[in-house]
Amino acid sequence: MDIPPFRYMAWAKAHSSRGRFPLHASGIPAESLESLGLDGAAVRLSRPNPPPPDPEVAAAVAARYGVPVECVMPACGTHHANYMLARVLAGPGTTVLCEEPNYEALPGVFRAVGARVLPFRRRREEAWRLPIPVIRRGVEAGAKVVVTTDLHNPSGARLLPDDLAALDGIGRDLGAWILVDEVYRDFLPPPFGTSFHPGGPFLATSSVTKVYGLGGLRIGWALAAPEIVDRMRDLNDYLVVNLPAPSASVALAAWERLPGIAARNRAHGLSNLRIVREWVRGRGDVLWSEPEAGISGFLEVPALRGKDDVAWVEGLFEETGVGVVPGTMFFEPGSLRVSWGMDEGRLREGLALLGGALDRLRG
Ligand SMILES: Cc1ncc(COP(=O)(O)O)c(C=O)c1O
Repeated sequence: MDIPPFRYMAWAKAHSSRGRFPLHASGIPAESLESLGLDGAAVRLSRPNPPPPDPEVAAAVAARYGVPVECVMPACGTHHANYMLARVLAGPGTTVLCEEPNYEALPGVFRAVGARVLPFRRRREEAWRLPIPVIRRGVEAGAKVVVTTDLHNPSGARLLPDDLAALDGIGRDLGAWILVDEVYRDFLPPPFGTSFHPGGPFLATSSVTKVYGLGGLRIGWALAAPEIVDRMRDLNDYLVVNLPAPSASVALAAWERLPGIAARNRAHGLSNLRIVREWVRGRGDVLWSEPEAGISGFLEVPALRGKDDVAWVEGLFEETGVGVVPGTMFFEPGSLRVSWGMDEGRLREGLALLGGALDRLRG
């Protein structure tokens, strides 16, 4: 079975420490033990692990969302949760519908288990709303899983209640699962929410990576029907078995602080969003559908149409020290994903340099 190369991950790793102005970094800068108010005693090298695995993490996740603990599968990050779900739900002969533009791992994990993945397009002109009739037709034609994100990577758009209700209807009427990757969702105002509800067609995945600056812990989870969680556990006994004890112990020690960290980062995101909004309004050469929350948006750049955006971004890094992600990485060439999780000073300077480069692009 082919494992499709994850081109964007290779690009992101190669560029992770490049650029003085990291407008390509989609997360909040990393926390440390000190910034969390913890010391080395929080880090444990072993933990009891009775079955079912990682009961404390599962209980903490269940309490945060108000769902039964049987519906929680702890995982080493959203990626691991998505992969396990793909392996449990799909395989050769399964058709999966996945949004596009997309975070490449989402179609990637389903392709890696042998499923056929068909894209449905989300469009800036439609504020990145889901094309519900297209999804319904795809499921009527036999797709078993629909994959989307909330907030959408790369545009930052949230899933609207009407679209969620329509997906719920499609899943229930036609017997399909709806997988929502919610790794950016906690940028929305509290309380913590999820599209997962016991007994319904939704499955959700998330982690402490993007909103919390704790990606290095690799702690995440899936919310799913108990029978799916059981199969993920069986699968995970061949994979990582239990969460790494140091990571799980630090995540649990920091757990009570997560709402405060999210509130701070949410406010920071909104404050920087105002700066990006002004910058976009001041330019006639980029188009976007402004996100409500979060730290990323997707700019269409008409002057980049038909050009090699990957090469253009490489030149931007070299000449200005500004990083952005070329739209090609999300299967939408001619666009740029811009993120604003950094401090205000560097954001302003980075946008000014990006503006200069766009001026030169237009000639
Ligand atoms: C949509 C989406 N899901 C998952 C991830 C990775 O999350 P984690 O660190 O929890 O595996 C990313 C990272 O960019 C992402 O954009």
